[in-house]
Amino acid sequence: MNALFKEFELKKLKIKNRIVMPALVNFNWSDDNGFVTERHVKHYEERAKGEAGIIIVEATAVNKNGRLLPTQLGIWSDEHIEGMKKITTACHKYGTVIMLQIHHGGLNTHPRAAEKAAGPSVDPNKSRSYELSVEEIKNLTRDFIEGAVRAMKAGFDGIEIHGAHMYLLCQFATQLVNKRTDEYGETLEGRLKFAKEIITGIRKETGNDFIISYRLGANAPNLEDGINIAKELEHYGINILHVSHGGMNNPVEIPQNFKYNWIVYSGTEIKKHVNIPVIVVNEIHTPERASWLIENDLADFTAIGRDILTDAEWAKKARLNEEINYCIDCKPRCRRFESSELCPKNRK
Ligand SMILES: Cc1cc2nc3c(=O)[nH]c(=O)nc-3n(C[C@H](O)[C@H](O)[C@H](O)COP(=O)(O)O)c2cc1C
Repeated sequence: MNALFKEFELKKLKIKNRIVMPALVNFNWSDDNGFVTERHVKHYEERAKGEAGIIIVEATAVNKNGRLLPTQLGIWSDEHIEGMKKITTACHKYGTVIMLQIHHGGLNTHPRAAEKAAGPSVDPNKSRSYELSVEEIKNLTRDFIEGAVRAMKAGFDGIEIHGAHMYLLCQFATQLVNKRTDEYGETLEGRLKFAKEIITGIRKETGNDFIISYRLGANAPNLEDGINIAKELEHYGINILHVSHGGMNNPVEIPQNFKYNWIVYSGTEIKKHVNIPVIVVNEIHTPERASWLIENDLADFTAIGRDILTDAEWAKKARLNEEINYCIDCKPRCRRFESSELCPKNRK
C-alpha cells in the first residue's frame, strides 16, 4: 500500500499521495446563477480532511450557454470567484492540491440551459444543434482562458480542461463528430487546434506554475487516436493527463489477464507514450487495486470517484487500513445523476 502514499512533486506542489477525487457534479445543489453554496464548501472540505491528495472540483461552466444542466456551477463571471475561494481556502487547510474542472457541453448542453447547442458541426440527430463559426470558437477559447484565470484568482492550484465524455472539446477532437473543412477540422492537428489555443492561452495568462490537466476521452473513436491526441496535448504544454472515456459505446479491447476495466487499461497504455503524469480512473474502488497500479508504474495517480462520494475519508482510511464505506454501484447508473439524496449510501 506504500506506493499510494508516496509524495509526488509537480512544479512547486507537493502532492501527499496518489489519490485523486475526480470531478463529480453535484446535481441541483446550485441554481441558474451557478454560485457555490455552503453545501459545496462542506462537501469538498470533508474530502480534503479525508486526505485526498488532489481534489478536482466538479465540471464548471465557462459559458452559460454551454451548461450540462441548468444548476451547474459557473465560472463565466468574476462574481463566481468569491464562492470558489471558499472551497479552495477550506481545502488548502488540509494540504490538498485543488483544481477546477472547466467545461462546455457543446452539442450536449441541456435544453433547459440553452436553446441552441453549439458544436464543431451540426448533429443530424439534434434539431437544436448548430455549427460554431470561427469567431464563436475564438470567443469560447477566451471563455475557457478567462475561466482559468478566475480559477487562479480563486486560489486553485490548477484547472482541468474537460476534454472527455463527448462534451465540446471531445466533439472537436473526434472525426466522428467534427466534420469541419476549415482550420478547426480535417486533420488531427486541426481537430485539436481549439484545445491547443485554450491550453497555450491559459499558460500565457496564468504563468508556469499553474497546473493544467486535461481529461481525455481515450476511445473517441479508438485508443490509437487517444494515444495520438495525448502526445499532441503533452506537446502543447499540459502538466497532467487524466484518461477517461469518450462517451461512446465502443470499449477498447483489453488483454484477458488485465484485472481492471478498459478505461483504466486505456490510461495505462497511454502512459507508455507520454512523459507527463497520468491519472487513471474508473471502477478502481479499493486501496489495494489503486496501489497495485502505482506500484507497477502503470499510473502516476488513481482517481476514485463514487467511492469518495460514499466515503469522504477513503484516502485516510486507506492509509490507516480502516474499513471503507464503498459505493454499491447502482444500476443502470449512479443515482446521484438525479440527486445526491437518492444515493443509498450517503443520504446527505
Ligand atoms: C454523479 C457523477 C457526476 C460526475 N460528474 C463528472 C464531472 O463533473 N466531470 C467529469 O469529468 N466526470 C464526471 N463524472 C465521472 C467521474 O469523474 C468518474 O470518472 C466516474 O465516476 C468513474 O469513476 P469511479 O468508478 O471511481 O466512480 C461523474 C460521475 C458521477 C457518478
